[in-house]
Amino acid sequence: MKNATEQGHVSFTAMKDGSAEDYAFLTEHEIEYAKGTADRLLTALASLDGGLSGYQITRLDHSLQAATRAERDGADTDWIVSALLHDIGDIFAPYNHDEYAATILRPFVREQCTWAVEKHGDFQLIYYGQHVGADSHKRDQYAGHPYFDDCASFCERWDQSSFDPAYDTLPLEHFANRVREVFARSPYDPAVLKQGAREPLVAS
Ligand SMILES: [Fe+2]
Ligand SMILES: [Fe+2]
Repeated sequence: MKNATEQGHVSFTAMKDGSAEDYAFLTEHEIEYAKGTADRLLTALASLDGGLSGYQITRLDHSLQAATRAERDGADTDWIVSALLHDIGDIFAPYNHDEYAATILRPFVREQCTWAVEKHGDFQLIYYGQHVGADSHKRDQYAGHPYFDDCASFCERWDQSSFDPAYDTLPLEHFANRVREVFARSPYDPAVLKQGAREPLVAS
């Protein structure tokens, strides 16, 4: 009988019947597939272009504007890519888009950035909660958290401000290699996650 490599696929039809060789074969495929994550995300970002109408700019332009502001503030790559992807969850998770984006970023950026992306929905309510019958002060539950001020700055400087059609926003291609660099990192590398570390959003 041919092995998985010779056949181009495993022989089993139920997971419990697979062999060590089958799973080694699948692991190689998964590693190969994972290499395409950055480009799949860039394609998904581009598809945000048509989504969520009603604002003066598209969701893609909002994302690009947030990343552009981060870059112009002198923030590092982790912050810039986090700003770029912070609303990517809008595609499939309109009611928890912040958590969705954070889940994508978590293995590849500093913990500080993941936290800010994960909580940005709650923090953003300070700007409009009163107009939609929501709790404007939902962020208060995180008072005292080490990354509280970082998320507040993320929202103030890059998110709530980035709906301006007149802003000189950089194109998606400008950020593509940064995204590829981030998603080529070893997942969950402690040297990347830097638990507890705080890098400034604005270069001094
Ligand atoms: Fe958002
Ligand atoms: Fe946003």
